[in-house]
Amino acid sequence: MFAYASVLSFVALASLVAGQSAEWGQCGGIGWTGPTTCVAGTTCVELNSYYSQCQPGAAAPPPPSSTPASPTSSTPTGSAPTGLSSIPASTLHQITNFGSNPNNIGMFVYKPAKVASKPPLIVASHYCSGTAQAYFTGSKFAQLAETYGYVVLYPNSPHSGTCWDVSSDETLMHNGGSDSLGIASAARFAISNWGVDPDRVFAVGTSSGAMMTSVLAGAYPDVFKAGIVDSGVAFGCFALPGQPDDSWNSQCSTGELILTGQQWAQKVFNAYPGYTGARPKMQVWHGTADTTLYPQNFFEEIKQWTTVFGYSSTPISNVSESYLPRGYSNATYGPQFQAILAQGVGHTVPLFEQQYLEFLGIA
Ligand SMILES: *[C@@H]1O[C@H](CO)[C@@H](O)[C@H](O)[C@H]1NC(C)=O
Ligand SMILES: *[C@@H]1O[C@H](CO)[C@@H](O)[C@H](O)[C@H]1NC(C)=O
Repeated sequence: MFAYASVLSFVALASLVAGQSAEWGQCGGIGWTGPTTCVAGTTCVELNSYYSQCQPGAAAPPPPSSTPASPTSSTPTGSAPTGLSSIPASTLHQITNFGSNPNNIGMFVYKPAKVASKPPLIVASHYCSGTAQAYFTGSKFAQLAETYGYVVLYPNSPHSGTCWDVSSDETLMHNGGSDSLGIASAARFAISNWGVDPDRVFAVGTSSGAMMTSVLAGAYPDVFKAGIVDSGVAFGCFALPGQPDDSWNSQCSTGELILTGQQWAQKVFNAYPGYTGARPKMQVWHGTADTTLYPQNFFEEIKQWTTVFGYSSTPISNVSESYLPRGYSNATYGPQFQAILAQGVGHTVPLFEQQYLEFLGIA
């Protein structure tokens, strides 16, 4: 519970979800209180009991041809989303009713004073024992949003140790439920209601939030276009089916879960069967003195993502960067994947937000 929760207002948001859901927006599911009809040209498709989505095409009836749209029509359909205007600027603000959220994760938004048109969205996930508030104050994502005009979402873990669920079958499956679905719902909500650019929705995170970033990249490649993993593990490494949601996988954390690239990649492919679209570009960072998530996890991540992208396991280049401290090396495997190893650095590697923004194409 947050001390500042009492000053937050959710009234404005509730009205925004009235009407029809946009393409790819939510249109039904357990706990869903928003619209259950879809805009023209899309159909409400049930993906699971928690989530129905407006998908393009199929059975939506064509608009009646006898009544062409008038320029003075007051119908809101097709107008630019205005939902962001109800969010107070330059402050951390809680949102609710953003879609399917089976674990009731908290969700906070930071909107800068000047929002770019069709702004990018960064989802910034905190470490174990952290909070949305702590990651907001402990990183420069919000401060830099004032310069670059993107929007930040800070999810807040509901679990007692406040780690993220990166281990359950549900969280590791596209639209499967748990924490990852709550976060993906908020990103979809931002696209549908805030005019966020769907081609510039990104995930970043540290430690448990880094593991969540891998989960989002693996299970929601349709939502997230890039992921930056600061001191995390490969997608699926923490899997512990049947255990409580935020269980700790010590085989993975100690770097003893060693698989082939093909085995790691298969975990990603299994997270969203039938998906053939683009995969988010990935940047992973790790310290060689990490005794929480052992550095072997860095090399398992490399096997996973190079295989997913079809890259050679030998980097194209592996160099020091002038802006990084001595002992950091930047191994590039292709345009979609870089792996930065920090010699002598423990858990976790400090954030390099400005450089992240370059990788994301924002700065
Ligand atoms: C890049 O080179 C450094 C040494 O300069 C080495 O420690 C590191 O393991 C290399 N990175 C990768 C991913 O192979
Ligand atoms: C790593 O090197 C590539 C290729 O030179 C570059 O594009 C990228 O910005 C570098 N990444 C970092 C984190 O410095």
